Amino acid sequence: MKPVVGQRIAEEPCQECLVGFGPEKIRQDFPALRVTVHGKPLVYLDNAATTQKPQAVLDAVVRYYTQENSNVHRGVHFLSQVATQAYDGARTRVRRFLNAAHDHEIVFTRGTTDGINLVAQSYGRKYLRAGDEVIVTAMEHHSNIVPWQMICDEKRANLKVVPITDAGELRLDEYERMLSDRTRLVAAVHVSNALGTVNPVREMIALAHARGVPVLVDGAQSVSHAPVDVQALDCDFYAFSGHKLFGPTGIGVLYGKAELLEAMPPYQGGGDMISAVTFEKTLYNTLPYKFEAGTPHIAGVVGLAAAIEYVERIGRKQIAAYEADLLAYGTELLSAIPGLRLIGTAKDKAGVLSFVMDGIHAHDIGTILDMEGVAVRAGHHCAMPVMKRFGVPATARASVAFYNTRADMDALAKAIHKAIEVFA
Ligand code: ALA
Repeated sequence: MKPVVGQRIAEEPCQECLVGFGPEKIRQDFPALRVTVHGKPLVYLDNAATTQKPQAVLDAVVRYYTQENSNVHRGVHFLSQVATQAYDGARTRVRRFLNAAHDHEIVFTRGTTDGINLVAQSYGRKYLRAGDEVIVTAMEHHSNIVPWQMICDEKRANLKVVPITDAGELRLDEYERMLSDRTRLVAAVHVSNALGTVNPVREMIALAHARGVPVLVDGAQSVSHAPVDVQALDCDFYAFSGHKLFGPTGIGVLYGKAELLEAMPPYQGGGDMISAVTFEKTLYNTLPYKFEAGTPHIAGVVGLAAAIEYVERIGRKQIAAYEADLLAYGTELLSAIPGLRLIGTAKDKAGVLSFVMDGIHAHDIGTILDMEGVAVRAGHHCAMPVMKRFGVPATARASVAFYNTRADMDALAKAIHKAIEVFA
């Protein structure tokens, strides 16, 4: 496998990248992986929903609350300065992690959903007019559909949807055809949470830019699996969540190109996003504070920085190579199970195995797997249009992280066989 900065995630295994990679040792850093479920060791395969947290992240959050707790950008006292340094230092770490050009292009949010809503409500409200178009893909999470529907309804603009193939791959030809002088923005997922498809976002961005159209990338499922370089991608916005990157819940990042963020009005009003307030007029703060109203989730930011440090220590190329191997192994195992159909068989895929089974509802699969200690998600995965596209009400979905092993995949296959026995 050759992980390419900013885009492809899985091709062929890169043995070089795997030298020295030790999931067994890594697993020891994650206390939650020692939990037993119904008397069985936990096999955690619900990483697309949320990831477990390494001790380093837990320690960073506890240290912040026990030794550094104070508000940021508001005090001259010692603790406030410590907290402010930790907060602003985390922004620099995120900037380097994404290879953004400037710290002020990094806005802390509540998560991917919050970041997308920020762009929809701020950029969308300013620039969308009646008859304009916003393009999304047929494999979006609800969080990259509903915010655009809301603003399109308000502005009498139209949402266009790029279709996907039976393998769950984007129809790039259709996308290209859809781009027009009415298109104001493209909002596309980098890695589909329901299918695992890795979208050709670099090509999509180049095609949109050729028409002067900015692109928002939903990176919720990509940052934790491979290197992401926002300058190499040349995306205009990139949103991700801390909790899917081994960090705390309730914290996320919106990257935006400075010139776009500068031109956008604030999303929310309150403390810290102003430079001067009178009853007649308010002057807004500079970037990124203009978009960070109110006391931020400081502990979340500190935890996120620790998570990024942890991921960087392991190495994102190593993670991508290891997970590609695990995905290939799991795909082979599951493909051999009679009556099992994989939903999402794109050539370029991240570590998601979504499947349905003849005669067994996805929720029943999830419940039986749980009795075996195997945690997967069963349902529509907040991507109802994807379920509709494949004509299924729901799927069971196993999703991997770098702490999963081939033994986890074996346990998954064994538990599925158990479900088949129960329903025979
Ligand atoms: N978006 C998350 C998932 O795919 C919650 O499960």
